[in-house]
Amino acid sequence: MYPQIDEARALLEEAGRRNPGPWVQHSLVAAECARRIAEACGMNGEKAYVLGLLHDIGRRYGVTGLRHALDGYDYLMELGYDEAARICLNHSFAVQRLDTGIGKLDVTPEEETRMNALLTEMQYDDYDRLGQLVDCVAMAEGPAEMEKRMQDVKNRYGNYPQEKWDKHLELGRYFSEKAGKPISTIIEGVKPE
Ligand SMILES: [Fe+2]
Repeated sequence: MYPQIDEARALLEEAGRRNPGPWVQHSLVAAECARRIAEACGMNGEKAYVLGLLHDIGRRYGVTGLRHALDGYDYLMELGYDEAARICLNHSFAVQRLDTGIGKLDVTPEEETRMNALLTEMQYDDYDRLGQLVDCVAMAEGPAEMEKRMQDVKNRYGNYPQEKWDKHLELGRYFSEKAGKPISTIIEGVKPE
């Protein structure tokens, strides 16, 4: 289950009022990139859009590190939106291991155990992969070239696990192949709106 576009936008707006920041524009860009890539690949564009809008919704609780992934998952599960909830948890983990997360793992030991279990039990599908990809290319102003964006993250956090880097490039190739054209041309010109 996942909400309709109107409801998803209302959830994002409310979250943005609680914790304003560029993450809201990043979510809008991620959503539109996801919609375009999904449509180019014969996937459900509306579903991809909604999942993109909500992937960072855990930021409604404030400025946090990897805790936003678990917070978003719990929030959307409570609302009954399991298909959107899973992207909250897995969008930062294209490599399906908690230790490849970038940023502070600001959760309790119990939450860490729960997060790890949830993550390792998931079977990623193409909507999960798409969420991971668009999170990696969406800046607040619009999409960026993936390697530039990853380099920017690497500079800010001081590290970027090589296997995660490679996995993201692999996701780019996977969707480009599926669409029959480079994703950079599909998402060109996307704006946060
Ligand atoms: Fe994100």
